[in-house]
Amino acid sequence: MTASKIIRQILANPLLATSKHFERDAKQRYSELVQLINDHNHHYYVLDDPILPDADYDQLFRQLVDIEAAIPSLLTDDSPSRRVGAEPLDRFDSVVHKLPMLSLDNAFNDEELLAFDQRLKTRLREDADSAETAIDYVCEPKLDGVAVSVTYEHGVLVRAATRGDGAAGEDITENVRTIKTVPLKLRGSGYPAVLEVRGEIYISSADFIQLNERAASNDEKQFVNPRNAAAGSLRQLDPKITAQRPLTMCAYSTGFVDYQATPRTSNHKIANNHIADTHYDSIQQLAEWGFFTNSEITRFSSIDKAIGFCSTLAALRPSLSYEIDGIVFKVDSFLLQAELGFVSRAPRWAIAYKFPAEEAITQLNSIEWQVGRTGALTPVAKLEPVFVGGVTVSNATLHNIDEIQRLDVRVGDTVVVRRAGDVIPQIARVIIEERTTDATAIKVPTQCSVCQSPVLRLDDEAVTRCTGGLLCSAQLKEAIKHFVSRKAMDVDGLGDKIVDQLVEQKLILTVADLYSLELNVLAGLERLADKSASNLIAALEASKSTTLAKFLYSLGIREVGETTAKNLANHFGSLPAIIKAAIAYGFESDDDHSNSEELINVDDVGPIVAKHLNAFFSLERNLEVIIALQAAGLNWPDIDVKSADQLPLNGQTWVLTGSLETLTRDQAKAQLESLGAKVAGSVSKKTHCVVAGPGAGSKLAKAESLGIEVLDEKGFIERFLLTND
Ligand code: IVH
Repeated sequence: MTASKIIRQILANPLLATSKHFERDAKQRYSELVQLINDHNHHYYVLDDPILPDADYDQLFRQLVDIEAAIPSLLTDDSPSRRVGAEPLDRFDSVVHKLPMLSLDNAFNDEELLAFDQRLKTRLREDADSAETAIDYVCEPKLDGVAVSVTYEHGVLVRAATRGDGAAGEDITENVRTIKTVPLKLRGSGYPAVLEVRGEIYISSADFIQLNERAASNDEKQFVNPRNAAAGSLRQLDPKITAQRPLTMCAYSTGFVDYQATPRTSNHKIANNHIADTHYDSIQQLAEWGFFTNSEITRFSSIDKAIGFCSTLAALRPSLSYEIDGIVFKVDSFLLQAELGFVSRAPRWAIAYKFPAEEAITQLNSIEWQVGRTGALTPVAKLEPVFVGGVTVSNATLHNIDEIQRLDVRVGDTVVVRRAGDVIPQIARVIIEERTTDATAIKVPTQCSVCQSPVLRLDDEAVTRCTGGLLCSAQLKEAIKHFVSRKAMDVDGLGDKIVDQLVEQKLILTVADLYSLELNVLAGLERLADKSASNLIAALEASKSTTLAKFLYSLGIREVGETTAKNLANHFGSLPAIIKAAIAYGFESDDDHSNSEELINVDDVGPIVAKHLNAFFSLERNLEVIIALQAAGLNWPDIDVKSADQLPLNGQTWVLTGSLETLTRDQAKAQLESLGAKVAGSVSKKTHCVVAGPGAGSKLAKAESLGIEVLDEKGFIERFLLTND
């Protein structure tokens, strides 16, 4: 019986809707449809070998949707209808990776690849357990997209996350569900109860061109390159937008694997956390379970043969349908990988060979002096557009006047532009032989290009700055963008375009004015729908409850980054205490010397930062803005300042070694420091304790030989982080 017939009968006779018979028929047809459509998707998107004409596919899909509408209880997690995109989210939840998502060390030439191979062989030879030093390598394109982790439980997709800082990322499950090359349910059998697959999400070159053509014809902003487009598409809170983006996921490894009741038996040492004995076989296995994998992946029996692949792939690169920025070399055997382990953020057993930067020749048409948040004038080279490294480049940074002099570049010159990976294009050199008599020298302007205030270059600085401060609209715009950014006040939905309009229309003169913006004013702005305007008012309201460190960071004081702001907050505990110390700094008084130096007792704060803090808080208009912000309702709890000798690890020296799984190394270091410990790079008799993660080597051995206490990460967290508030 066809689906529509079943539904028609159900609708015609409500009594029948409860009949077991019809429900069973519908259920059976439904699961057939789910499987058929998923099969079709797999053939179409993963194997590039369609099995059904489009019209038949559309008909099946309609049947599926009809059944789901009539009997919603049938809807399953692996239904292809879920790919159209779920309801929008307010924000992405955080996901802690069960195993950290690492990065890769780089090699730039054959010598560095040979040295990598030598390093591994020496290490394996020294390892008493290992008799084997021949290494098979797998080489695969380094795809230029966004890393993702996708987890399956009992074969069904349950979670997808970004890499984030490697320890924790964002939950992008509903966005990833819309990607056709991501199986909603694994194919075949024999998969572990929990399988985490890692891979790259990217946009193919042809799809990217189409995407930008579509954006152009809709009068929307075009993307700079496929990588940015992929990243932007995944960061959408509305999965329906992601669903319209041509994203592909290519699986390149597994993460956490758990066979639970039915362990693999082939190799006892690695059986339960791998799906095969070698990386190459694991990729074949992932393909069998329905993942899209790269077709250029190749296994070699020696480093020399593997190195040969670099020129093969470099030659293929222009004809590949996707962008790559290098080749990843991986040790094939999981047993050897386990023996080699990790160094801090990267595995020892893999390396990324990076293609040389691409260069092109073009003309320097003019210089634009852009004004940044702190008033710094940065020269930007306006170039005759040229295609280099996969994108059309029309701007290049020149950093500052010293760089202009070093390059001896003039307007009208013929220049070599270089672009490597995702970095900002640069001018590599001038072709002096091509210089004509029209070429004109570049001079630093005497006035700000935006507000016409005089500019100033201090003797000890390479940069020239506009003296307009927040009266300069360029500086004000940047200051507001910084104030609302994620790590500062975190005001969701206040994008650059909106800030530009608010400043240009003089709707705000200081950051404090943000909090008196009214709905009708916001709704009148371009690119801001009514709904977004009221969301923005709510986001501003929500941002009012913050922390002292975030507030301090958001003020945009020069040289006061996130860490310095945290250190200041933890040291002084309250804003008045910070302001008092900042104003006292450098203030020579016969009876009050101690106070004037307190600022530089804070970690990370030296004389330069102290000078900037002093300058900032000595300006009356800055204090007025702070008062206005507090009057608008901004608030944060003061911090209970413990004096150093009250901290539990005061005076102790700790060492971190091996890879950590829950915390990043920076987080662990910051935690230790906040407990009063110093964190050192090597173990000595003075070391109090070592926190050792997987892959710990000589430092652990030394600690053990010296009888120093060793904690694993879990032990460290349990002892200090869970019990401490
Ligand atoms: S393996 C520990 N394989 O490159 C192994 N990474 O710095 C880490 N990438 O952001 C990953 N193509 O997303 C691996 N074939 C490939 C890759 C690949 C691209 C990215 C990865 C990560 C970065 C590593």
